[in-house]
Amino acid sequence: MSQKLWTAVDHYIDQLLINEDEILVAARNASAEAGLPEIAVTPSQGKLLFLLAKMVRVKRILEIGTLGGYSTIWMARALPRPGRVVTLESDARHFEVARANIARAGLGRVVDQRLGPALKTLPKIAVEDTAPFDFVFIDADKENTAAYFGWALRMARAGTAILVDNVIRDGAVADPKTKDASVKGIQRFHSAVAREPRVSATTIQTVGSKGYDGFTLVLVVR
Ligand code: SAH
Ligand code: DHB
Ligand code: MG
Repeated sequence: MSQKLWTAVDHYIDQLLINEDEILVAARNASAEAGLPEIAVTPSQGKLLFLLAKMVRVKRILEIGTLGGYSTIWMARALPRPGRVVTLESDARHFEVARANIARAGLGRVVDQRLGPALKTLPKIAVEDTAPFDFVFIDADKENTAAYFGWALRMARAGTAILVDNVIRDGAVADPKTKDASVKGIQRFHSAVAREPRVSATTIQTVGSKGYDGFTLVLVVR
């Protein structure tokens, strides 16, 4: 089993079920042309974010890690009006590329972009007088994933779903001796979930055009 096969199957799925429109294609192309790392969710993963958000009938979404706004656009499209995606990004260039992509998608009034390190922005959002988030997508620096999970919980309600990207990392997550700071961060996140009585969670391993990785889905139950 190989990367080549996983990529071919992703293409098969994309052609049959995903059919990205020109706005999503343009968002990916503009991000690549601007030199952003090509680490956005894949089309089928973007559609999964969209479907999950629709299933839970979410109105308010928090995203940590905007990049070029590709995942942001998928999620914003699942929202009823008026809905909100608050998305956090520390890199000014990524932020600007995302701004253009989100504007092209006609979602400038739905998406609230915040520039700055998420650990600085999250405490500000937490004291803003708003309703809890219904859905949270954590996809930024993996070292801080456990901390982001803590903030997500603080701004959640019973029924909020928290989805976390890149939690398998070629299987390194199961290596207790890993020296990789990102993998250690994901291990701390899993430990935090394991000892948190307010949530129920699972982690799913995935393969695809982005390799072997996975998602954790956390449901806040009380
Ligand atoms: N969710 C995007 C991909 C995000 S990639 C998509 O699927 O389309 C991860 C992003 O997190 C990068 O743009 C990176 O600049 C950003 N990031 C890294 N550290 C961060 C931090 N401390 N605070 C906020 N964003 C951060
Ligand atoms: C990386 C980050 C991501 O969010 C991702 O989906 C894939 C790779 C990275 O930093 O390498
Ligand atoms: Mg990711």
